[in-house]
Amino acid sequence: DAAEKGGYEHFMLKEIHEQPAAVRDTVSPRIINGMPDLSQDGVDMQKLKDYRQIFIVACGTAMHAGMVGKYVIEKLARKPVIVDIASEFRYRDPIITKDDLMIVISQSGETADTMAVLRLAKEVGAATLAVVNVVGSSIAREADMVIYTHAGPEISVASTKAYMVQISVMYLLAFELAYANGTIDKERCMELTAQLGQMPDIIRETLELKDTCSFVASKLVNAESLLYIGRGLDYALSMEGSLKLKEISYIHSESYAAGELKHGTISLITEGMPVIAVATQKKLIEKTVSNIREVKARGAMVILICDNSIEVGEGVADYIIRLPQTDEQLMPMAAAAPLQLIAYYTSVLKGNDVDKPRNLAKSVTVE
Ligand code: G6P
Repeated sequence: DAAEKGGYEHFMLKEIHEQPAAVRDTVSPRIINGMPDLSQDGVDMQKLKDYRQIFIVACGTAMHAGMVGKYVIEKLARKPVIVDIASEFRYRDPIITKDDLMIVISQSGETADTMAVLRLAKEVGAATLAVVNVVGSSIAREADMVIYTHAGPEISVASTKAYMVQISVMYLLAFELAYANGTIDKERCMELTAQLGQMPDIIRETLELKDTCSFVASKLVNAESLLYIGRGLDYALSMEGSLKLKEISYIHSESYAAGELKHGTISLITEGMPVIAVATQKKLIEKTVSNIREVKARGAMVILICDNSIEVGEGVADYIIRLPQTDEQLMPMAAAAPLQLIAYYTSVLKGNDVDKPRNLAKSVTVE
């Protein structure tokens, strides 16, 4: 067991550290002459760009990777994307036709609800594309097209490296689709792709923030409840940060779109309640900072995660985690590991079974 963990105390920590290699293995074979290229995976972008509507459906962490996909595909490729939870999508009589593209995301490739959605999409004649980690899994076998993520086996129930590679595939797809669609030019596509190619180094740098993350964890460990807030891509990321924390620390937490706080959730804020604010998107930073001030004025303890170029005034946050800089679109890949590490250290401090949290299974093959 110790040997399998490669010197790390838990599989989760080992897998967090495997992320630079997992991203490199997933991304680099799909960059050809500086451009994203999914043709070897059987993906024809000229066809893909003509689908009426893109759906991304999955469960748990994989669904959160889909949320990042939605933001980047819509932003860059200007195609409408609907993201849904598999167990909701299949029972809501969804409006999906043969002119649509269904993307399902699954680490295991065996999740029953995700599988059911794939079959439903095939029944109506929609094109299906699966983003899967386990080679030869049921979902991979049934989808029309498969893009494999190369994370290697993920043992820890709380997913980390699988999420990271799922979002890296979302970027490859978004960039290539945007170029095919003519919504970004070749220069911009190459620039974004080059940045994606450099993400393994950026992620490695973010792993060095582990002491800060462990310190932040010591501030969360006695909390009864906390909030994650963000806007846009930062909101998508907050959802995953919050899920990670509750899965393994058993502390109740919610992710909220920062601008929506004042419409209800702000009433939950009491003296000392931790709020983790993710703010990596320059256009939105001022708005998020004003939301931070609102919670701070009501006694919240604010932990701000932002990139190192962003200037925040004195006293805005109690603690700041500064991320290395990359293209704004790619910031979720820079912020993901610190969020995972915060959850990890909180769970360790609570003395929980980090790799096998209560009541959860790695793969859910029943409805
Ligand atoms: C389970 C796991 C989650 C995972 C979800 C989807 O609930 O505990 O970590 O995100 O299933 O799994 P999949 O294998 O389809 O990505």
